[in-house]
Amino acid sequence: MSAIRVVPTTPFEGQKPGTSGLRKTVSVFRKPHYLENFVQAIFDAVPGRQGATLVLGGDGRFHNKTAIQTILRMAAANGIARVLVGRDGLLSTPGASCVIRARQAWGGIILSASHNPGGPDGDFGIKFNPSNGGPAPERITDAIFERTGTISEYCILDTPEVDLSTLGETLVDDMVVEVIDPVADYAALMETLFDFDAIRGLFQGGFRMCFDGMHAVTGPYATEILENRLGAPKGTVINGVPLDDFGEGHPDPNLVHAHDLVEKLFATDGAPDMGAASDGDGDRNMILGRRFYVTPSDSLAVLTLNAAHAPGYARGLAGVARSMPTSRAPDRVAQLLGIDCYETPTGWKFFGTLLDAGKATLCGEESFGTGSDHVREKDGLWAVLFWLNLVAATGQTVEALVRDMWAKVGRIYYTRHDYEELPSRIAETLMDDLRASLGGLFGTAHGGRTVMLADDFAYTDPVDGSKASKQGVRVLFDDGARIVYRLSGTGTAGATLRVYIERPEDDPARQDMDTQAALADLIATADALAGIQQRTGRDGPTVVT
Ligand code: G6P
Ligand code: ZN
Repeated sequence: MSAIRVVPTTPFEGQKPGTSGLRKTVSVFRKPHYLENFVQAIFDAVPGRQGATLVLGGDGRFHNKTAIQTILRMAAANGIARVLVGRDGLLSTPGASCVIRARQAWGGIILSASHNPGGPDGDFGIKFNPSNGGPAPERITDAIFERTGTISEYCILDTPEVDLSTLGETLVDDMVVEVIDPVADYAALMETLFDFDAIRGLFQGGFRMCFDGMHAVTGPYATEILENRLGAPKGTVINGVPLDDFGEGHPDPNLVHAHDLVEKLFATDGAPDMGAASDGDGDRNMILGRRFYVTPSDSLAVLTLNAAHAPGYARGLAGVARSMPTSRAPDRVAQLLGIDCYETPTGWKFFGTLLDAGKATLCGEESFGTGSDHVREKDGLWAVLFWLNLVAATGQTVEALVRDMWAKVGRIYYTRHDYEELPSRIAETLMDDLRASLGGLFGTAHGGRTVMLADDFAYTDPVDGSKASKQGVRVLFDDGARIVYRLSGTGTAGATLRVYIERPEDDPARQDMDTQAALADLIATADALAGIQQRTGRDGPTVVT
């Protein structure tokens, strides 16, 4: 039994977990005691750690392995009995959620800054998921944050490094460290949800897909599931080896960052039938058909509409939930199916109560997140398998599945314009002034449309009654068009203004326009209402998705 070392420390300012945990640059996390303070705050703030099982892993970014060794020493000093750590320190976010649930752990610590760039000059992050496997609800993150403000010491052991490359058990003092295959539990769960035989048949019949692992955590998951278990040809997975700087890429699955994939899928000759990508920690997804982009909102609507084709959802859906800025395509499908559709603030944690209470089965967000009650995180590879299952079961292409949904409920043209790295003061003043103007907007006309509702989205959780306010300004027009403004909660540099713009088009003859052209007048209204160009001095958004 090594002696527990009690290390005196002082609080760091700003250890406040954001939308998905504490995210800072690597340089901040390398400051002496910075990581330790936060980890000790988790141990102190969340009851029940004594003798408990902890799940631990990350997306493989720079500092991942070092941080894991530190956390193992601290876990042993804090009375944790067993830690399940992914081989090589890897666990995707949905993979960790799956293991926490499957092994009935006290909780999990996931090391990731999701889609933010990695490497020594990139970002790092840490989040805690409690025993339901989902992101910590606000009452837990608040308690952790509060503890970081008063912390005066942490406990650690001086034990040697644990070998993370070999499966099996070792001891750190009297705590068991079990190095687990990060894919095994997860792949087994996927086999219960989807028709693997049908998908295997699809690949045998010559269906070609390309999955871009973006040198992040899903590479090993996708290789095992798509190539080894489902028989997709070798080479289906590209950029499949996790690297600590993600190959200097930006592991965010969208049309801008997943360029290797987009190039292949939009090639005039020889494009595969389907393309997909996931992000740094494996919870996001982008789905592409051949020369066809599926918006995340449409993806959720298509999965909802066709869920019965997947064995895990054949009994029907309890309901569907989407974040407020996500398009209202899922609402229309839910109405068609006669099931409930919930509208929550941005952030996966808001789906947790609905999933736990059995009110929603599928959830999704415009920010490339889709998932279900199989775990309590959004799940990139799950979405890909769901789409493959639908293609296999219906014999339709990705594009045809989307067009079929449009034919049934109409198309909602949808775009998001991001203004990144704005000076915080300018972004905050813009939002404050916009909020202050809301009262006068009702009934005013803009480019031929009349404002029917203008508010700052507030939410009361229908299960536990908890409230969230100031979740984004929304302006609704009489023709069903909508503009939403909010500031990103995940950036690490300055402020990012996100503007979400949509309008429904029910006429099938007009469902084939270019999205930016179809929304041009509404985009101009969005700028005029908030004075974006004038206040920011930018002549356009930095990223359009
Ligand atoms: C993370 C969360 C998502 C959320 C997104 C919003 O990815 O896991 O649930 O939708 O952040 O990011 P934003 O930058 O728009 O606050
Ligand atoms: Zn992520």
